[in-house]
Amino acid sequence: MNFLRKEAAALPPYQPFPSGARIKLDMNENPFPLPEPVRQAAIEVAAQLDFARYGDSSATVLRATLAAYAGVQPEMVFCGNGSDEIIHVLLTAFGGNGRRVIIPRPTFVTFRREAILSGAELVEVPLAPAESSNPFALDIDRIIHLAAEKPSIVFVVNPNNPTGNLIPPEDLLRVLTETESLLVVDEAYYEYAGITLAQEVARYPRLAVMRTLSKAFGLAGLRLGYLIASPEVVAALDRVRLPFNVNMFTQGVARAAVENAHLFQPQVAALLAERDKLWQGLASLPGLRPFPTHTNFILFSVPKPPADVWHRLFAAGILILDVSRDPLLKNCLRVSTGTAEENAVFLQRLKECLA
Ligand SMILES: Cc1ncc(COP(=O)(O)O)c(C=O)c1O
Repeated sequence: MNFLRKEAAALPPYQPFPSGARIKLDMNENPFPLPEPVRQAAIEVAAQLDFARYGDSSATVLRATLAAYAGVQPEMVFCGNGSDEIIHVLLTAFGGNGRRVIIPRPTFVTFRREAILSGAELVEVPLAPAESSNPFALDIDRIIHLAAEKPSIVFVVNPNNPTGNLIPPEDLLRVLTETESLLVVDEAYYEYAGITLAQEVARYPRLAVMRTLSKAFGLAGLRLGYLIASPEVVAALDRVRLPFNVNMFTQGVARAAVENAHLFQPQVAALLAERDKLWQGLASLPGLRPFPTHTNFILFSVPKPPADVWHRLFAAGILILDVSRDPLLKNCLRVSTGTAEENAVFLQRLKECLA
């Protein structure tokens, strides 16, 4: 198809591994059921909405709810059909020809894809190697140097995916004080890490903090991401987003979930306790090294070819993520924390794979 844009032709379709595995630990989802009041609210939302009508294109009520949760003003909140869409909208507004997009490597894949699609110059800055004294540390001086050269947008995930490590927030703020660039900090795992730059957005209009309901809130299938940004940035994104980008059902259920955020706190605490057990279990296996994590997933290196380990686990009905194609993660796999039972089966099978 010779009229396909060259940027689109360069991209393979995004195809996550088809689900259906008995134990699914590949996408950092919340393994617990929705708290009952939220599930009931979702049923009521579905029963009460008039789907024949367009909803509120501005998601006014949901934005106010998210603003209260994040401790910011409603005009500082932008909603998207998942954070994935927000990345797309950000790059439609601020990326493109003549702009530079700076991202660490390895990190969440969508930044790279969307930067390429927008036609921007993509610069990937490698993290510190696994063998260094501070594994996967961000080279902030390099990022600042690159971001000072040209109008840029810097994307950083904190804590990073797939490595799980936390970047000191004060390092990130240097991008704002030492360059003119836009800094987007993706806090998809905020509820697990408990560290945020949201309160700094009012002080730094070029800072945007992105979050999602797909992880701790257990609503990956609902598709709701939000950005905390200056009113100027929100207004810019409103110019380029599609009308009605967040549908009325998602708006209603997301609102109920965030209003009931306290009901998710016991789930977060339970998952973190399970994650620590899983980490200890991984550390006790010979030749295997789990890396420190501030999220609900764990990156670990294996003493055998990672693709073989992945295939054997998959054959046993367990789906995790093989990240070993990245040169910095040559021997690594990533596993999400599941329920206690799922983690126990995973550890047992992994042990058998390594025997
Ligand atoms: C860092 C990061 N950002 C964003 C997302 C996607 O979020 P959403 O489901 O809101 O598009 C993920 C999902 O894995 C992620 O790890």
